[in-house]
Amino acid sequence: MAPTTAPDPSRKPRTVPSVRGTKVRRGDEPLVMVTAYDASSARTVDEAGVDLILVGDSLAMVVLGHEDTLSVTVQEMAHHIAAVARTRPGALVVGDLPWMSYHVSEADTVMNAAELIRAGAQCVKLEGGTKRVPMVEALTDAEIPVMGHLGLTPQSMHAMGGFRVQAKDSAAALALVADAKALEHAGCFAIVLEGVPDAVAKLVTDSVEVPTIGIGAGTHCDGQVLVYHDLLGLEDRRPAKFVRRYADQHRDAVDALSRFAADVRGGAFPGPEETYHLSEDQAEALSLYGS
Ligand code: KIV
Repeated sequence: MAPTTAPDPSRKPRTVPSVRGTKVRRGDEPLVMVTAYDASSARTVDEAGVDLILVGDSLAMVVLGHEDTLSVTVQEMAHHIAAVARTRPGALVVGDLPWMSYHVSEADTVMNAAELIRAGAQCVKLEGGTKRVPMVEALTDAEIPVMGHLGLTPQSMHAMGGFRVQAKDSAAALALVADAKALEHAGCFAIVLEGVPDAVAKLVTDSVEVPTIGIGAGTHCDGQVLVYHDLLGLEDRRPAKFVRRYADQHRDAVDALSRFAADVRGGAFPGPEETYHLSEDQAEALSLYGS
């Protein structure tokens, strides 16, 4: 099928340095990041003009049907990153390092990240603060740009006791600031802040020179990210408080598919306009065979 999107030719492709240099307090526009997991969703978000496409490990839940993000593998992530990258988006492609791909050793981390880069990611994202510094340094030494992810980090769901808002007291807020500074110092070019109070997100954003990208972190970040399926209402599950639905595509899809099923069952599909017809002389020649 031919691509349905026509990329804006005047749009400059996003790069890691251009994202690293974005800071709302310096007058820049907030960054827009949306997840995508295949060619179709990548073309759609890129045509909408987002700055970054995150091939997130949320893939595990919204595409692969798992209960959490812990089951997805490096190979599965690479498979979906490749599909997104083949569309050659103008947005920067961020590949999420899945759980246990950057926890064992620096060497493992670099080799796993390399698999995502070879699949087409332009940088990787990993969860966690100060204790990830050696991994971030090993990746940046290997010329692999790294985005950090702090706050409610879904890969730590068992340690956190579920998906819970983090940094709700001043000690935890200050620890989060220390984590953000450690990630920045280790070389992260941007930091996702998930599920933290807005005042804490502001403190972190004010404390670092790299952009923060919030999800459930209020308005003071240098950008916002949402999951494609949440934003478009592709699921009928109750969304988290921080999700704003801009469409109800689940309802629209169920309605369209029900009408298709009814048309097939009632003989209304396919109609003459959806059917290939023989020319009149060939139809007549064929009818002679039948008689
Ligand atoms: O995997 C993902 O979609 C994410 C975002 C929620 C930031 O990490």
